[in-house]
Amino acid sequence: MKKLKLILHLAKNGEIGGKIRITLRELAKDLGVSPQTVLRWLDELEKEGYIAREVEGKKTCIELTEKALRFLEGLCEELSEVLHRGVIIGEVVSGLGEGAYYVKQYTPLIKEYLGFEPYPGTLNVRIIFPKTIFDALYNVKPVLIPGFVKNGRTFGDVKAYKVKINGIEGAIVLPSRTIHPPKIAEVMAPVYLRKELNLKDGSRIKLKVME
Ligand code: CDP
Repeated sequence: MKKLKLILHLAKNGEIGGKIRITLRELAKDLGVSPQTVLRWLDELEKEGYIAREVEGKKTCIELTEKALRFLEGLCEELSEVLHRGVIIGEVVSGLGEGAYYVKQYTPLIKEYLGFEPYPGTLNVRIIFPKTIFDALYNVKPVLIPGFVKNGRTFGDVKAYKVKINGIEGAIVLPSRTIHPPKIAEVMAPVYLRKELNLKDGSRIKLKVME
């Protein structure tokens, strides 16, 4: 932890690949520890090969080594694996009552492209994690349900992302034109999810994105 704290601080305050010139007292103040502690941490990091340093008068000139840069990169990858496992956490909210009409129009195509007969409606989910549905879906390939014209009305293309809702297979649907901000996901499923999963407005649900 202390290693991470110091390496991150140096990376943030120096240019990556550059050097930072600082007194031990300043560095200690920035990190909220004593100068003796900073000196000990610097000694350890230098011994382990994460930094190179030279003393220039009162200041120490510190450079992150290749090992430190690799360490930061590795950490970034690990964090992103932990955080972007295709899990979406959200809470059930009510919509405008328009879902049923649209789902009915697309039902034959949903059967053809997603392989299930949808319950007529969409469960609206306010996204809690990650920040927006785009953050959760950016590297997932959608199933594209093509638009059509019916009785002179145009129904646009719809992107569907297969998900499991507490084990039940369904899909997040994103109309190409939507009034929803990216904080709301509309979920289709073969069953009435509110009853099946005992959901009310405000209930937490977990959506697992299928690859
Ligand atoms: O737009 P709004 O949420 O008002 O309603 P809707 O899309 O017409 O769906 C009707 C109701 O069924 C809503 O309460 C949805 O949350 C719910 N629903 C569900 O529980 N499971 C589904 N697979 C689809 C909708």
